Amino acid sequence: MTHEPSPVVASQNESHGEGHDYVKGSPHLRHETLRSMIADRLRELVQETVRRQGACHVLEVGAGHGTFTDFLIQAGASVTVTEASEASAAHLTARYADHDSVNVFYDRTGEDIFTTPTRFDAVVCASLLHHVPDYVTFVRRLAGLLAPDGWFYSAQDPTYYPRRSRATHLASRGTYFAWRVGQGNMRRGLATHLRRFRGEWSDTEPSDLVEYHVMRDGVDELALERELRRWYADVELITYWSTQAPIFQRLLARAGLASDFCLVARSRTAAQPD
Ligand SMILES: C[S@@+](CC[C@H](N)C(=O)[O-])C[C@H]1O[C@@H](n2cnc3c(N)ncnc32)[C@H](O)[C@@H]1O
Repeated sequence: MTHEPSPVVASQNESHGEGHDYVKGSPHLRHETLRSMIADRLRELVQETVRRQGACHVLEVGAGHGTFTDFLIQAGASVTVTEASEASAAHLTARYADHDSVNVFYDRTGEDIFTTPTRFDAVVCASLLHHVPDYVTFVRRLAGLLAPDGWFYSAQDPTYYPRRSRATHLASRGTYFAWRVGQGNMRRGLATHLRRFRGEWSDTEPSDLVEYHVMRDGVDELALERELRRWYADVELITYWSTQAPIFQRLLARAGLASDFCLVARSRTAAQPD
């Protein structure tokens, strides 16, 4: 039976076409502080694994154009990267053609990776989970791909809106809007923003599908933390401020606003999740 991509995965493929600019709307790629925060943590985790067992085979899900793949290789990992966008998978294949340590997997359905018999030393997701409707199940299935000593790392997803402080939510939405005004295609941008403000979305509107949980109510970081604690003794949840425009990133980074989060899970205690 052929498994067709869901509309959400199909929209990932369509919106990340040839020549897509991943950096433009991505605070964690635009701002050196956020990029280094993610890369430094990845480096530590990979190097510690290489010291302990001599190698570290990472599964990086939804690698885009490979910003964090580079950091993983530099830290000494071999990497299997997946992409649901055919164009991005082609870009990664060309980019890493001369790297024996990178294997590119075009994941047409966004779920084909779960059939692999390989068990990885680490699973990495950057700015990925908010594109996945049932992210708790997705993370459980990813944890099932880890070797017994493996670790899970995810960064750059919006915190759960209903739990955000009013200050965080207003700052996050307001700074996004201020940045969005300068990005062109204002009619569609305004319509999206208005729906987002009202908490309305549609399962056919491309912009509501591609930024799935940015349009809904963020990603429930505590539900993910709880899920990971079923399997791992050491789970860290770190929240931080992230926004597009450099000026608002600099001004608000120290204000204690928790717009985004990363999760690290290590030391598996229970049997492999299925
Ligand atoms: C916001 S981009 C982030 C890219 C990259 N990780 C980064 O931080 O630069 C999300 C990427 O995940 C890919 N993607 C979304 N769902 C996926 C899935 N289930 N499996 C593989 N890739 C997926 C999309 O095609 C897109 O390239």
